[in-house]
Amino acid sequence: MKTLIKNGTLVLRDGEKKADILIEDGKISKISANIKADCKVIDAAGKHVLPGFIDMHVHLREPGFEGKEDIESGSKAAVAGGFTQVCCMPNTNPVCDNAVVVSYIKYRQQQVNLCKINPIGAITRGQEGKAMSDIGKMKEAGAVAISDDGKSVADSNVMRLAMEYANGFGIKCLCHCEDANLVDGGVVNEGYNSTLTGLKGSLRAAEDIMIAREIALSESLGIPVHICHVSTYSGVEIIRSAKKRGVKVTAETCPHYFILTDDIITSFDTNTKVNPPVREDKDRKAIIKGLKDGTLDCIVTDHAPHSLKDKQVEYNLAAFGISGIETSFPLSYTYLVKSGQLTLSRLMDLMSYNPATVLNLGGGELKEGAPADITVVDLNEKYVIDSKKFISKGKNTPFNGFEVYGKIICTLVDGIVKYAE
Ligand code: DOR
Ligand code: ZN
Ligand code: ZN
Repeated sequence: MKTLIKNGTLVLRDGEKKADILIEDGKISKISANIKADCKVIDAAGKHVLPGFIDMHVHLREPGFEGKEDIESGSKAAVAGGFTQVCCMPNTNPVCDNAVVVSYIKYRQQQVNLCKINPIGAITRGQEGKAMSDIGKMKEAGAVAISDDGKSVADSNVMRLAMEYANGFGIKCLCHCEDANLVDGGVVNEGYNSTLTGLKGSLRAAEDIMIAREIALSESLGIPVHICHVSTYSGVEIIRSAKKRGVKVTAETCPHYFILTDDIITSFDTNTKVNPPVREDKDRKAIIKGLKDGTLDCIVTDHAPHSLKDKQVEYNLAAFGISGIETSFPLSYTYLVKSGQLTLSRLMDLMSYNPATVLNLGGGELKEGAPADITVVDLNEKYVIDSKKFISKGKNTPFNGFEVYGKIICTLVDGIVKYAE
């Protein structure tokens, strides 16, 4: 089985280069100019050839919430968004807190056979924050990390024990940072716009306190930790100073935190409701700075598809979350690269290489011998985001009508075309 990608501009870790890629048996066998081979050819003239994107934080909703998304619809949406590999959070029903659910997800991945799917196990049973889940058995079944995403583990001692157990099995805790008592039912960022709208606010401190706690645990124990979806300027600062001290902390953010501010909540559009909430311009700017200087390691989507009935209700009652897997690359490219803040090569580190490294997944770059997980994009094609065209069951996005660049032309997983425009 051979495929040749010809005439494209490759984005490598050290920059861009015009070259061809020969794929043999699912792997990149050769990167060089003018490769000749008698096989299927993908003409990438005028296009960019990128390492397949890796999203280490998505919600695929199966088992239990298939009305919002399922492994098949989520995988189709992922490859349409240029993703070749995703890691799915355990807040399903039943919760993915044991080896059976982990194996079920792996089995469904094989059936659907589009992108690679890595299950993330729960930290605690039922995500209830009390008893630890079967961390070792889940790891054995294929879990790549543990997380109680959707909430924090309130009990610091449970969190300490989970970090130690997970570390013993060679996997990390991915921490959703939120002090639930301090949030106290808040649905948006606490500030001018929460006062203006009368929507209940949630302080930055509710997030920062937990970021600081996870870092304190990581530092005291000497165990690596990963912070999910950073949204505050002050959280970026806590992580930056911890990294300076040598704490083994990594962190992610999402497109909505470096593009939007809470000015959008004045529309009362429930598609702007997400947890943590979008904050203010100084937060947005600090997150871009954190992406630039390496304080933030990864861009994830926190793809959180919801059905219409979960969103077409009063703001206070609506579900938190944004369906983001089909808009992540074009938004990141448009707002970070085209705007001159980052190089495309650096964006690929944030969307591919670093997530692969943080979770030890392998891949994440174009090089000879690597799995042929490859995304071809047209950076010149401008289009308008329209959620009606989403493949995901979740049409919940605050980005409808945004003009973006960066169309996904095709996505290859292990050398097989899994999406073509
Ligand atoms: O907005 C969010 N949606 N934040 C979370 O932490 C959970 C997620 C979901 O599962 O819908
Ligand atoms: Zn979360
Ligand atoms: Zn999440």
